[in-house]
Amino acid sequence: MDKDEAKKRLAELRNEIVEHNKAYYVMDRPKISDAQYDKLLRELIKLEETYPDLVTPDSPSQRVGGKPAQGFRTIRHRAPLLSLGNAFNPGDLQAFHRRVTEAVGDVEYVVEFKIDGLTVALVYQDGLLVSGATRGDGEIGEDITQNLKTIPTVPLKLKSSINLEVRGEAFMPKKAFLKLNEEREEAGESVFANPRNAAAGSLRQLDPKVAASRQLQVFSYQVLYSPEIDLAEHEKALEFLEEQGFLVNPQRLVSRSMEEVIQYIENWTEKRHQLPYEIDGMVIKVNSLTQHRQLGATAKAPRWAIAYKFPAEEAETQIIDVELNVGRTGVLTPTAVLAPVRLAGSTVSRATLHNEDNIRDKDIKIGDVVLVHKAGDIIPEVIKVLKEKRTGSEKDFSMPEICPECGSHVVRFSGEAAHRCTGGACPAQLRESVIHFASRDAMDIEGLGPAVVGQLLAAGLIKDVADLYYLNREQLLGLSRMGEKSAHNLITAIEKSRENSLAQLIFALGIRFVGAKAGKLLAHHLGSLERVMSASEEELTSIPEIGIKMATSIRAYFQEEQNKQIIEKLIKAGVNTQHKGKEVETSFTGKTFVLTGTLPNLSRKEAQSLIEEQGGKVTGSVSKATNFVVAGENPGSKYDKAVSLNIPILDEEKLLVLLKG
Ligand code: IVH
Repeated sequence: MDKDEAKKRLAELRNEIVEHNKAYYVMDRPKISDAQYDKLLRELIKLEETYPDLVTPDSPSQRVGGKPAQGFRTIRHRAPLLSLGNAFNPGDLQAFHRRVTEAVGDVEYVVEFKIDGLTVALVYQDGLLVSGATRGDGEIGEDITQNLKTIPTVPLKLKSSINLEVRGEAFMPKKAFLKLNEEREEAGESVFANPRNAAAGSLRQLDPKVAASRQLQVFSYQVLYSPEIDLAEHEKALEFLEEQGFLVNPQRLVSRSMEEVIQYIENWTEKRHQLPYEIDGMVIKVNSLTQHRQLGATAKAPRWAIAYKFPAEEAETQIIDVELNVGRTGVLTPTAVLAPVRLAGSTVSRATLHNEDNIRDKDIKIGDVVLVHKAGDIIPEVIKVLKEKRTGSEKDFSMPEICPECGSHVVRFSGEAAHRCTGGACPAQLRESVIHFASRDAMDIEGLGPAVVGQLLAAGLIKDVADLYYLNREQLLGLSRMGEKSAHNLITAIEKSRENSLAQLIFALGIRFVGAKAGKLLAHHLGSLERVMSASEEELTSIPEIGIKMATSIRAYFQEEQNKQIIEKLIKAGVNTQHKGKEVETSFTGKTFVLTGTLPNLSRKEAQSLIEEQGGKVTGSVSKATNFVVAGENPGSKYDKAVSLNIPILDEEKLLVLLKG
């Protein structure tokens, strides 16, 4: 095929693939089989490999990252990425206010969250994302374009064909961080200390597929360069970013009063733990961009902004003992038993120590006085030992050679940070696997918590998860503290769980490396448990985000005779093994949308039915009760009303991203 033909074919392929992506991910109605889809994608990638200069930045091959980058190139920033001066108390803020007003007179401020992630610099040419970089030393950053392209909140293409440079903060939501660490712990890998490190580690992965699986997001907060657009205020710049398809944090205050600014900050100091992502402070910025120019910058930081840093949430306490928990894959996790202490809104009396390496690196001993904090605002963790407080009576802790639960040998496989119990019949592993099976994201069996599971196992009523479906009322009544009502409720909850989705069931089985998301992907792509069981490694890895490691683990699980028997028993008990379409209740449920203007791809009707399919409601006029306005070309007065009421405005791309969940 010559180059002209290739160009034509590439355009066709891209259009087709974009169409199919929409049909698949958004409409949930694939028009072709996965194999046919893969064939198109492979043809696209092959043609692009033959003609690399024909690769366009918005090609569908670029979302999944194509091929891994060879190390990172560097990128020189157009203007150095400065940092911010710090304020630690209201007095520092008043001093900042005085400095600013003395220099430029009256000012208006915009107060935003200081997202705890890492700075990214995004460059667009003619509306297309051409590069994305880390901060680096402020002048030269690392080229992480391929990884940033996998983040749905980084638009590949802007609404307008303009040149633009934008700065923002890439971060990992708390939930994603906790899940990632949980999975890493189970897989015997080292854990990330906090969401920021996890985000940085993910963006510095050479294989974009890894970054793509990490649920990263970017909040954009600054227009650095926009030759075609004249912006007078920072707040207008943020609105402009929203219009162009960026995710801008909707939570901000615009105010002329420093008193009000301080009040707003104090309010969020308390409330910040409830946010789904971590913030480490607030940024106070002068709104007028003319005043920015008048105020200028020092070598390090602009004079028109300051960062208010929240006090670090740390507490001092003593390690009284170290306990070991055996997880469902046999991983032994050491946990510090602490003298109870107040920390970030709760009393903490245990902290995870993760693994032996962590204990050794931090030189943690029983009896040590330590500093603790909450990783991801939730998991208490030891930051460091206060060695100056040692008395000499502290004791070393070492991992046992024998499992404390079953007496089997404990091993540490090479390349793993974890120690594992090798006992195939270890009761702790069985207990944890039943607890996992019944947990909320898995089969969601209410009333089947750790205590009841322990009792059922001790009484010999269950030997695996499938036995749950064969329990009867009388057996349950024989357990201590189990009354008529609880027994009835538990049996009902178990019965009800037979109707759960296939995705829940796959996740509930507790196959190594298969999380809730992988459960959904497998259910969606393969359609039935029987097909998941018989899928070849090739079939499995052709599913986006399912790699070799997971595929091998799935194959191994279903080849195990014991597991086959459990599945058979589950099927016999009438547990659902078929995919029934839409899996999850999404954030659209109960939300009110107003559509205005012409969307680039979807008709009004299509957009409406997509929203309604996910439980949202579409109404005709904008009011305070409207949750989102979806705006296209020539939006008219509904748009202005949404702006005046401060209602989030989505464009089609963002709506589709939201719909994808
Ligand atoms: S404005 C000229 N706004 O905080 C510097 N920065 O030292 C303009 N950050 O690593 C920065 N959220 O990436 C700004 N809403 C926000 C921010 C924010 C987080 C980060 C930024 C940088 C550090 C500032």
